[in-house]
Amino acid sequence: MPKFHLTLTVNGEPRELLIDPRRTLLDVLRNNLDLRGAHRGCDSGDCGACTVLLDGLPVTSCLLLAADCDGMDVLTVEGVLPSPPARGVGGEGELHPVQRALVEKGGIQCGFCTPGVVMAAIALLNDNPRPTEEEVRLGLAGNLCRCTGYKKIVEAVMSAAEA
Ligand code: FES
Ligand code: FES
Repeated sequence: MPKFHLTLTVNGEPRELLIDPRRTLLDVLRNNLDLRGAHRGCDSGDCGACTVLLDGLPVTSCLLLAADCDGMDVLTVEGVLPSPPARGVGGEGELHPVQRALVEKGGIQCGFCTPGVVMAAIALLNDNPRPTEEEVRLGLAGNLCRCTGYKKIVEAVMSAAEA
């Protein structure tokens, strides 16, 4: 099968790759670009562990063909930085307010869901900086967590919004 010439901006950096056109965005991020923060949980759009931002909107990267993302801007958890300049994120070794709140509130246990939760929460707060608890629960409805019972995750996002 002929290769597809893919152009993406990933975490602010232009990337060009020749890929198998059947590969998903998650495959390309993890296997071609060695960005392992987006996790493969269900591989069927149900768990949200693979969530990244595509042109600023949260997507399940396991469901998207990378070729369909050609020319677009991808933000993964590796590109999330502390304070919000242009794209919601700060400096190496520091945490974004959402990440810090997840740690402080106990919203992380095994951490498998956490990168997806972080990306979904950042997208939510970019769109709605002062969400209600119900809005937070709705915004994170696509992100499954087997460990925390969600209460602490929701508390963390509410706390990040206040911060
Ligand atoms: S791995 Fe993509 S939604 Fe579960
Ligand atoms: S912290 Fe374990 S799945 Fe969410």
